[in-house]
Amino acid sequence: MNESNSQFEQRKRDHIRIALDPRSQTDGQNGLDSIELIHEALPEMDFKEVDISTSFVFNGDAIPLSSPIFISSMTAGHEKGREINEALARLSDRRQILMGVGSQRRELEDSNAAEEWARVRKQAPKAKLLGNIGIAQLIKSPIDKVRRLVDSTEAVALFIHLNPLQEALQPEGTRDFKNGLNAIENLVKMVNVPVIVKEVGCGFSKETLKRLEGTGIFAVDVSGKGGTHWGRVEGYRSQESEMLYKVAQTFSNWGISTVQSMLNAKEARVPFEIWASGGVRNGLEIGKLCALGAAKVGVAKPFLEAALNGDGALEELLNKLELELKITMFCTGSRTLKDLQTKRVTQ
Ligand code: FNR
Repeated sequence: MNESNSQFEQRKRDHIRIALDPRSQTDGQNGLDSIELIHEALPEMDFKEVDISTSFVFNGDAIPLSSPIFISSMTAGHEKGREINEALARLSDRRQILMGVGSQRRELEDSNAAEEWARVRKQAPKAKLLGNIGIAQLIKSPIDKVRRLVDSTEAVALFIHLNPLQEALQPEGTRDFKNGLNAIENLVKMVNVPVIVKEVGCGFSKETLKRLEGTGIFAVDVSGKGGTHWGRVEGYRSQESEMLYKVAQTFSNWGISTVQSMLNAKEARVPFEIWASGGVRNGLEIGKLCALGAAKVGVAKPFLEAALNGDGALEELLNKLELELKITMFCTGSRTLKDLQTKRVTQ
């Protein structure tokens, strides 16, 4: 189905409004309540020494980052999203954290849509942006057009999002996922930035992770269940009387939790990095996910809420997440993120 520009704008505004509605959240389902880090009563270090810095290393180049926390992909290509992206990019620039941009699908059809990034770059020249496109669009698009998405954002990596539940419940969804694995494999050979495959809140099984093994991707961001749920969001876009609204209720808790996805990744022993997101709401949860092996940890909805409240709210959110992560490290006797990854977790 071809969407007009105004329908596209409306869909994007709906997504933001509905994602902020508590009914779209699978609260308490990320699995992190069942994970315990072991308290260290005698850490033998000064709190000041706790170091949450890390880097993004690809082909020998290292981009220093102030923490493993990143802003998960959210929005792009519409007026309201522009202000949000500008605020998020300023935070990425000021605080040296990675930021995923939302799906750049619109740019595939309308090259003028890329102007958004020129404006973002004026305000945030040092932001570390990660491009984004859906698998359904990747499958259908000439590789040159996909490469342009990286150029327009000056991205340091490209996310490919996998969202079968969302597309199935979206009235205007693109539901042909045939040849997805091939498309990913081909993309890796044709772009000169790392490719990161992500879900959008339904997680990964061990088998799916295994199937990605030979593609040459740089990382998988598991984006598991436990936070924003795209089955719910798409369901609430329909009227209560409509079929898709009712069907979405059936799938309102569908997916693999963020923790289970991390455990699946550990078992799969894949050669690429594992990143985590999906319902991450505080720095203790970030610490738990790092201990479970996540190289980076993404947060979406809380950054969206803060961005709507301005730069001060964004600073406050990031300060809180960082302080909580540092306390988690101090109280487990971990001076660095590497130390934290060696700590035992109990379930
Ligand atoms: C998203 N997410 C998303 N992901 C993606 O890869 N491309 C996209 O365009 C979007 N769009 C989008 C819009 C909004 C408003 C939200 C809140 C989220 C999914 C996001 O990156 C993440 O995977 C999930 O939202 C789970 O994280 P939280 O929200 O539970 O922290």
